[in-house]
Amino acid sequence: MTIPKKVCLQIPMLPDMELAATKTAEEVARFMQFATDSIDEIKMALIEGIINAFEHSKSSDKTVYIQFDMQDEELEVTIQDYGTGFDASQKNSIQLFQKRGYGRALMEALMDDVKYFTSPNGTKVVMKKRRH
Ligand SMILES: Nc1ncnc2c1ncn2[C@@H]1O[C@H](COP(=O)(O)OP(=O)(O)O)[C@@H](O)[C@H]1O
Ligand SMILES: [Mg+2]
Repeated sequence: MTIPKKVCLQIPMLPDMELAATKTAEEVARFMQFATDSIDEIKMALIEGIINAFEHSKSSDKTVYIQFDMQDEELEVTIQDYGTGFDASQKNSIQLFQKRGYGRALMEALMDDVKYFTSPNGTKVVMKKRRH
């Protein structure tokens, strides 16, 4: 029997709770023998994704659902909320002086692949990071 290599976590939308997720990410990525820099990149991307769910999702269950899927050569991280979604086709505007609008660009720079699935029933972000 093959062991399913998934770690699931749900966190309440409360200040600093994203740190519960980054601690978990750290252990998962360490288990997969990611380089230290890559582990930090995964943690930063995860923080941005979670904070976006906290700040923008308007979810009524006030919970973010996170899944770490340990695949052979890559880690897949899914961040799901059951909020109201957004228009992902809109080009994201970076507002330099407000320090807003960097999160999504940062996630794309830090991870190898980032995909959004968003609808009025919520938003799912699926991010992948290869080990090498
Ligand atoms: N989980 C989410 N639920 C609803 N909207 C989101 C979500 N994630 C991102 N967004 C939308 O994408 C925009 C850009 O996110 P981001 O680049 O992190 O910038 P910022 O958070 O500073 O506005 C947000 O302003 C929001 O409209
Ligand atoms: Mg953001």
